[in-house]
Amino acid sequence: MSKKNFIKNNNNLYFSKEIKKIKHNSQFRNLIKSHRYSNSKIFRNGKELISFSCNDYLGLSQNKTIISASIQALKEYGTGAGASRLVSGNHPLYNELENLITKFKNVESTCVFGSGFLTNTGVIPAVSSKDDLIIYDELSHASTNLGIKLSKAKSFKFKHNDVNHVENICKKHRNRYNSCFILTEGVFSMDGDKANLKEISFIAEKFNASIILDDAHGFGVLGKGRGSQYDLKPIPEIFIQIGTLSKAVGSYGGFTVSPKIVNKLIHNKARTLIYTTGLPPSCVAASIAAINIIRSDKNLVKKPLMNASLFCEKALLAPPQSSIVTLILGTEQKTIKASKLLEKEGFYVGAIRPPTVPLETSRLRFTFCANHKKNDIIKLANIVKNITKTLL
Ligand SMILES: Cc1ncc(COP(=O)(O)O)c(C=O)c1O
Repeated sequence: MSKKNFIKNNNNLYFSKEIKKIKHNSQFRNLIKSHRYSNSKIFRNGKELISFSCNDYLGLSQNKTIISASIQALKEYGTGAGASRLVSGNHPLYNELENLITKFKNVESTCVFGSGFLTNTGVIPAVSSKDDLIIYDELSHASTNLGIKLSKAKSFKFKHNDVNHVENICKKHRNRYNSCFILTEGVFSMDGDKANLKEISFIAEKFNASIILDDAHGFGVLGKGRGSQYDLKPIPEIFIQIGTLSKAVGSYGGFTVSPKIVNKLIHNKARTLIYTTGLPPSCVAASIAAINIIRSDKNLVKKPLMNASLFCEKALLAPPQSSIVTLILGTEQKTIKASKLLEKEGFYVGAIRPPTVPLETSRLRFTFCANHKKNDIIKLANIVKNITKTLL
């Protein structure tokens, strides 16, 4: 279509109406140039700021050993995989990475995907059929929601972390379906709280259901780096764990760990694995080097949660369950105002608004990393204490 015809097209009216609506609700977003440096510094809006809005929890994206490993792979194997993993893009480094994750998590098998998002959208439809039931937390990530939409299974959403609600859904519906999957998250990305895994696993056992756990924000940080459920005793049985290589691991990609038979099915049915190009070998090499550090450096792994705890103590907030802390301010306007106030003081803390979170729950979302400095955390906490007094 020519540019002229495009402008004439009625769709154009639709686009501008939609944008107007988004702007009217203070939900309009822009891509802002953000240059990240080491030590949590970021250059944004013409200013150098200390970022509390980054999921590189262990600072591994800037780690010299990992960068060297990635450069080495880049030089040896080139910039791209060239094809899907199922065609010719399955570089031997994949095998090394999958074995490493399998061993670290003490599970049967691992499958690495292009991203965490692609993992959820591919795996959920691959393992479920129209005769199955999916029960999922209402605060599940957008990629889980999309994976459920793409699956043919019947689905019900449960109130956030409400185990009684899960049980009631199971009582009412479970016996009409073949398999039943309960989907939840190790750490909820926009809230920072953890799933009630212990209770959910009792229900899963009672109703013969299988848990699918998205642990994008737990892997590398909780359970000595192995993931959030590894903090519990006994470790709950998780049918499929989903993780990302793009947050604490500091690289790019996603993965599932599952029984071998499920892994074989994933290789054959997950469309987001089959019909997309493999990761660049340099990315896979970076993940291998990073996970080796996570396995061995226990002190590094502990730091994000320690930093989040220091912040909560000084800002007079409840102790954190993870390295994510949120302060719900309610309206989009208040949240943008608070984020701008922090920017003036030299901090970058993202304003999280609908549709990422439910209406009336706009919030500041702080992510704590190993390389944040104690003085910066205390300074930030003092400002946040004032924000709480004036904006809440
Ligand atoms: C809970 C959760 N699952 C999945 C993803 C997607 O992971 P990735 O960034 O690797 O695509 C995210 C990232 O925002 C997430 O927070």
